[in-house]
Amino acid sequence: MTTQKEIIKIRKPQPDYPVMKAINDRFSPRYFSDEKVKSSDINLIFEAARFAPSGWNFQPWYFYWAKKGDASYGKIISCLAKYNRFAKTAPVLIVACFIKKFKGKKTYYRHDLGAAVMSLVLQAQHLGYYCRQMGDFNKNKLVKLFNIDINHFPFVVIALGKLGDYKNIDNKLLKRELDPRPRKKDFVKKLD
Ligand SMILES: Cc1cc2nc3c(=O)[nH]c(=O)nc-3n(C[C@H](O)[C@H](O)[C@H](O)COP(=O)(O)O)c2cc1C
Repeated sequence: MTTQKEIIKIRKPQPDYPVMKAINDRFSPRYFSDEKVKSSDINLIFEAARFAPSGWNFQPWYFYWAKKGDASYGKIISCLAKYNRFAKTAPVLIVACFIKKFKGKKTYYRHDLGAAVMSLVLQAQHLGYYCRQMGDFNKNKLVKLFNIDINHFPFVVIALGKLGDYKNIDNKLLKRELDPRPRKKDFVKKLD
């Protein structure tokens, strides 16, 4: 039987330099615990997104979220690609949207949403939660189901929660979880 400890050992980053704890602990699991996300923590997590930098300070992002048990939760799950439906163990699902224009000006929407999402993810990690972002879902279906504002473009769904205990995980999913996510090292060049 695989334990949570073993999963953490395999999936946790192994940085060459002592990066900050939230980065050092973060990975994207596919298996979450039933434990609820406290509402005070939800507030903190979105607050971190709010203070992300953005081009011209346009803040071209918008988040919709639902917790397990809400009618909307199942609807979000139904929009995910089948292989992403592992997300059904997560106590919270967040739909992160970008906004292409602000006061008639083009925003740096993908970049800025990425910054806001990463702030959110790291704040969550700092509080002991894990996130997995999923870009593969039926965006048109989601927009229709929730009658989403025409200016909000769903880009990733984020599964959020505490890490599962992995004792009852099915074998197929476990196999995917045991796959380490190595990082390339050749990505920085000092210019003369
Ligand atoms: C924009 C974006 C889209 C992603 N889409 C998916 C997805 O559809 N399904 C999935 O299982 N993981 C998805 N991921 C998670 C990545 O596969 C994961 O972050 C990557 O393999 C690195 O692993 P780590 O986050 O555990 O370090 C996505 C991540 C990002 C940032």
